[in-house]
Amino acid sequence: MSVTDTLRELVHRVATAEVLDRVGKPVSSKVGDVLGHGPVKDALSGTWLGHPLHPMLTDVPIGFWTSSFVLDIAGGRRGRPAADRLLGLGILSALPTAASGLSDWSDTIGEDRRVGVAHAIANNVALVLYSWSWLARRRGRRGKGLVLGFLGAAAASGGGYLGGHLVYRQGVNTDRNAWKHGGEDWVDVAGDLELTAGQPLVVKAHEDDVLLVRTAGVVSAISNVCGHAGGPLSEGDFDDAGCVTCPWHGSVFRLADGHVVHGPATGHQPRYEVRSAGGRLSVRRLRSPA
Ligand code: FES
Repeated sequence: MSVTDTLRELVHRVATAEVLDRVGKPVSSKVGDVLGHGPVKDALSGTWLGHPLHPMLTDVPIGFWTSSFVLDIAGGRRGRPAADRLLGLGILSALPTAASGLSDWSDTIGEDRRVGVAHAIANNVALVLYSWSWLARRRGRRGKGLVLGFLGAAAASGGGYLGGHLVYRQGVNTDRNAWKHGGEDWVDVAGDLELTAGQPLVVKAHEDDVLLVRTAGVVSAISNVCGHAGGPLSEGDFDDAGCVTCPWHGSVFRLADGHVVHGPATGHQPRYEVRSAGGRLSVRRLRSPA
């Protein structure tokens, strides 16, 4: 069996290990309750940034630890103080990184949640080993510190592999509307009378499901597929402020232009121009940034 096949088999075993649900389900539910919906969730998700925060933050400790690793190997005696400092900075920067990852993970279910548990375990093991290494170095036990640091690098690599699997294989936190480019043409989607005030209507336009809502005589149209993880917005709550709340994880979007108001979503919904003519409604994807 090749290395690739072995890794795939290992990840498959983790993803199908239902025993991980015993930890994953209650912890993710608790994390969800604690974070709630609002500024803290928005901050950890990266809604304020318009980009998922966790994958950006992971570069910071990985960068510090990798630099420390290189100095440990090739920095000689003169490189030791810098190697130790970089190790410590990696430990400090791992804390906000873990917090943002925990927030993202709390929105996953099934196999993704199980792989997320293993990802978190590997990264926590790495954090403990790096912290232990740092303490050993401070106490003058350099040899022990180096061994612990190398073990930490191995654990962090395993954690990184699982994190990459979640994003690049499973599509966790990948915008569900990323590949929907639609067309330039107007698409006839419904009769004008089919859309009654306050009653959402989902229609098909090119390859997208489009949510139509008529409010105070104005028809809004945005993608019905929540960019965060694909939740059906038509089944969410519609408020008087002209927003819809996704039924899956509570992201809030403005109907008028698809703007994300609250996360965990970080991107705006695709929006559509609406035309009414001859008793029919047509939509066309708007290309300009909302
Ligand atoms: S699918 Fe997660 S907030 Fe909509």
